[in-house]
Amino acid sequence: MRDAHLTINRAALLHNVAQVKHHAPQAKVMAMVKADAYGHGALLVSQILQHHVDALGVAFLAEGLALRQAGITCPIAVLQGVFNTTELELAFEHDFYLVVHQQAQIELLAQYTGTKQTLIWLKVDSGMHRLGFMPNDVLLAYQQLKPLHCVQDIILTSHFACADDLSSPKTLQQLAVLDTLATQLPPLARSFANSAAILAWPQSHHQWVRAGIMLYGSSPFANKSAAQLNLQAVMTLNTQIIALRTIKTGDSVGYGSTWQATRPTRLGVIAIGYGDGYPRHILANTPVLVNGQTTVIVGRVSMDMITIDLTDIEAQLGDSVTLWGDGLSADTIAPYANSIGYELFCQVTPRVRRLVN
Ligand SMILES: Cc1ncc(COP(=O)(O)O)c(C=O)c1O
Repeated sequence: MRDAHLTINRAALLHNVAQVKHHAPQAKVMAMVKADAYGHGALLVSQILQHHVDALGVAFLAEGLALRQAGITCPIAVLQGVFNTTELELAFEHDFYLVVHQQAQIELLAQYTGTKQTLIWLKVDSGMHRLGFMPNDVLLAYQQLKPLHCVQDIILTSHFACADDLSSPKTLQQLAVLDTLATQLPPLARSFANSAAILAWPQSHHQWVRAGIMLYGSSPFANKSAAQLNLQAVMTLNTQIIALRTIKTGDSVGYGSTWQATRPTRLGVIAIGYGDGYPRHILANTPVLVNGQTTVIVGRVSMDMITIDLTDIEAQLGDSVTLWGDGLSADTIAPYANSIGYELFCQVTPRVRRLVN
């Protein structure tokens, strides 16, 4: 059987949650499990985390419903909120926390005639300019929401545009907007911090933090590694060497013959490709790990196979190859694909077997 597989390390996930709590000890933790838990498997991650966090975060209703239908009982927040009455009814039926980021969502809540209540996360656009009420409109939104019988309580929430860039003034500007706003409202719990803010902007932690990428053992910062942040890789992507050959100086490899051997080269063919979510446009020279030894990709990534250079290392048919994960951070690989760990994780396709340890 083809051996391309992805292993989820339960202990690493729990270690990373402990790191979130270490950095934000006073805050409640929402674990982001949207986009299939950044490609790690939303149900699996939710099952592992649900008794270790205060809520799970999904992007849209269907992601939350899938978790409820699979038996996840802990609080789930829907970050884009709901868009019609059918969704609203379902959200109350399944006890979802709801983000409210625009006027139409207040009107939907006002029309709700059921008896359920939930936490409303009133979203402020403090400078990211993606979702949320402009600061000047928040007081009115609050005043409209507060008397609604379905509103159990209101949390003020916002999202940072540049929390991963410690030299940018943007986060402090957003925090100043939010601090001013807080003086104009009754005291409310606040939730602003993503992973970068959990790690680097303690003044943003307040009552709830929303941890995503750091849970999965990847660094939100370009110049600080996951290891330096004491985060452990949760996802390891592996496959096997399925063929070997030796080519002469001047021979080319793969589609387009884009790579040419500058010396006699021993090649390994590994059973993974862009059909598995490994980026096709990644550069030749991208590292892979073979039996703990680092070597590189040569030639183009094809749909089911990649060729690697084995000339200088010990390797046999059937040996295991790590594309990223334990021993080779996805953060190291991502720049070769002009990407970020988040995207590499999300792109792994369903034909890659999933294992848990
Ligand atoms: C609103 C919101 N909060 C929190 C997060 C978590 O961010 P990160 O994965 O950088 O921790 C995200 C992720 O995109 C988000 O959209």
